[in-house]
Amino acid sequence: MVKLLPFFAATVFFQPAFVLAVGGATGSPQGFASGTTGGGDAAAVTPTTTAELIGYLGDSSPRVIIIDREFDFTNTEGLCNDCAGCIPASDTCGSEGQLSINANGWCGSDPATTVSYDKAAIEGIYVHSNKSIIGKGSNAIFRGKGLRLVNNVQNVIIQNIHFTDLNPEFIWGGDALTLDGTDNIWVDHCKFSLIGRQMIVLGFGPSGRVTISNCEFDGQTSWSASCDGRHYWAILGYGNNDFVTFVGNYIHHTSGRSPRLDYNSLWHAVNNYWYSNSGHVFDVSSGSNALIEGNVFENVTTTLLPDSTPGQVFVPRKSTTGECAKYLNRNCYSNSVISSGSLSGSVTSFMVNFTGHDIAPAIPPSTVKASVLAYAGVGKI
Ligand SMILES: *[C@@H]1O[C@H](CO)[C@@H](O)[C@H](O)[C@H]1NC(C)=O
Ligand SMILES: *[C@@H]1O[C@H](CO)[C@@H](O)[C@H](O)[C@H]1NC(C)=O
Ligand SMILES: *[C@@H]1O[C@H](CO)[C@@H](O)[C@H](O)[C@H]1NC(C)=O
Repeated sequence: MVKLLPFFAATVFFQPAFVLAVGGATGSPQGFASGTTGGGDAAAVTPTTTAELIGYLGDSSPRVIIIDREFDFTNTEGLCNDCAGCIPASDTCGSEGQLSINANGWCGSDPATTVSYDKAAIEGIYVHSNKSIIGKGSNAIFRGKGLRLVNNVQNVIIQNIHFTDLNPEFIWGGDALTLDGTDNIWVDHCKFSLIGRQMIVLGFGPSGRVTISNCEFDGQTSWSASCDGRHYWAILGYGNNDFVTFVGNYIHHTSGRSPRLDYNSLWHAVNNYWYSNSGHVFDVSSGSNALIEGNVFENVTTTLLPDSTPGQVFVPRKSTTGECAKYLNRNCYSNSVISSGSLSGSVTSFMVNFTGHDIAPAIPPSTVKASVLAYAGVGKI
């Protein structure tokens, strides 16, 4: 009975059955994006073709869009055959590494080569405001194309969708989720695997209030920029004035950028489980701010990359968890760091930025691994 208790407590936190569902979703968002309602009361639609899905996502009606199957976008926009690419310096392992598409002049003076890739993955589907995109069961898959939330898109829920197969062989092969100029975005119980570039990228414009919860970032790949079967380009938070709650996620077999933060953003990373990262998890540059509490890091080489111009980071120790009380109205939890590089950060001044925002609750790190393994990812709700 005593052994079951933490598991039950975690169930209550991550699967709050007593909270009314919003916008056709299961549960409701915690943390910064707590006001998100997506398509609200709109009648549900269930697209059956990629064209119909693109239409529902991009039109101006509030919509609850049910995804009950796999949508395969590969070959829908043709191939780029023998297009310009290069062999980046990181690719020291031939076919087990990642070649690069020469996008944005990125290749520079790296040795040129040709690459053939699927064009559909390069740019995501445009999503309008007031949409819920809700996967049913465990086969709600977007294959070969991601989503693009830009130009002042607000109030979108993306739940229980598996994004996969976006030119994983190539750097710049495609981003699964792009946020750039958004507000109130809730990404929940999604899975990301075999993505060429970023699994999630928050671009230079303000992303506003975002909650990324209960997602699985699966970095296992046969084309690794770090030449070790792990994906380097996981999560990039480059926005200005971003408020990101990152809670209950499972990030595994990555080798960098998990996440990399820059510019003026505030991240609350709480109750996540990082496992088997051969490079760095956090890279927090000057201007960006992160509260890292109640997480588990297991077999992570570098938990927080030393930066020449570091951002502001608070990593509560057992003796300093009380420092959070005046900003969060509760104490923080310390982190559990197992077979991993050390983690520390003692700046608290940036936490004034939490004022006036909804703060995600937290569970003790001792219950986080079991809870995350049970609930993060697709097919769990
Ligand atoms: C989204 O819905 C809200 C509330 O109904 C409405 O005020 C707003 O104009 C909608 N946004 C767009 C871009 O349609
Ligand atoms: C973590 O890494 C160590 C070696 O550093 C290894 O012995 C151990 O099996 C790994 N743990 C897991 C759970 O894979
Ligand atoms: C947070 O507060 C700091 C002061 O410590 C400020 O420089 C920064 O702009 C704020 N960031 C956000 C995202 O509001």
